[in-house]
Amino acid sequence: MRVLLTGGAGYIGSHTALCLLNAGHEVVALDNLYNASPEALRRVEALTGKKAPLVVGDCTDEAAVTAVFEQYRPDAVIHFAGLKAVGESVAKPLDYYQNNLDATMTLCRVMPRFGCRVLVFSSSATVYGTNQEMPLREDFPTGCTNPYGWTKWISERILTDVAAADSTRSFVLLRYFNPIGAHESGRIGEDPAGIPNNLMPYICQVASGKLDHLRVFGNDYPTRDGTGERDYIHVMDLAEGHLAAIEYAAEHTGVEIFNLGTGTPYSVLDIVHSFEKANNLTIPYEITPRRPGDIAVCYADPAKAREKLHWQAKRDMTAMCRDAWNWQKQNPQGFGDK
Ligand code: WQD
Repeated sequence: MRVLLTGGAGYIGSHTALCLLNAGHEVVALDNLYNASPEALRRVEALTGKKAPLVVGDCTDEAAVTAVFEQYRPDAVIHFAGLKAVGESVAKPLDYYQNNLDATMTLCRVMPRFGCRVLVFSSSATVYGTNQEMPLREDFPTGCTNPYGWTKWISERILTDVAAADSTRSFVLLRYFNPIGAHESGRIGEDPAGIPNNLMPYICQVASGKLDHLRVFGNDYPTRDGTGERDYIHVMDLAEGHLAAIEYAAEHTGVEIFNLGTGTPYSVLDIVHSFEKANNLTIPYEITPRRPGDIAVCYADPAKAREKLHWQAKRDMTAMCRDAWNWQKQNPQGFGDK
């Protein structure tokens, strides 16, 4: 299949592009480069020996999306593109609702004009909200605690209603847990702008000396060691989950939701200690108050993806920590053009 990857130059998009190419599919990326570098796809081409064309443009621009379909005629779409910083979404809700929802609706309008009925959507475990029993299952109630999460939730709603109105459509909604790590080559990886919000890129910058120490946001949670527990998944496992999802979507119609997680929670201190052991170094940290909005525990029941997509995460925490550090070491300034 030829697959259009919106946001395909980003962290998860570029790893998925590599995985699809290695599986014999073709890719084309549409990315506005707001939070991505064209270098990522150049390196994917070098790693795979295959083309990964990039069209620089915005998914909310119907003319730009139409032009991509006219030129490349994709068989399917994986929709990664979107603003994704939780804290920023609280400060700028209109930007998040406008951008993220317009992108989803623009794709839903343009795709059928070119006979394209298959879409995989980058959703998030954040749609499960708080106060849930663990592990999380796809049929659990949903509800969000920030505008970013609501844009994912509302996009899932839009896709569900569009598929109900047009039975030829096939949409797979993937609820990611916490993607970390990088391709084993260290040539592509997570390249956050500014000071990282997320745990693993922050730890990597402490390890490289770019940041002084890690602040552990609270050790008074009702968990084994008091620090927050999350379901961290290697980005290459996540990429392989997208390969399984797009191939599943091409053989079905309607809407299916899948968790993409490992089903194994790790605490913040577990991650610190795993990273230190995997890379033989020390991560200085201090315990600070909880970060507002954080929940204590969040991890997946991955059974549905295992049974219906025949996919499960394979890479362990040592690999996640080793590959994250390998990318950071080789690329202390990321792709170098932020
Ligand atoms: C993980 C744990 C923190 C940084 C977010 C988004 C979610 C998804 C994944 C998009 C928590 C602790 C973190 C630090 C810390 N993104 N932490 N010190 O918050 O689980 O999920 O990213 O879909 O939508 O909410 O990830 O990496 O920020 O935090 O102690 O400097 O690490 O409290 O327990 P989170 P995270």
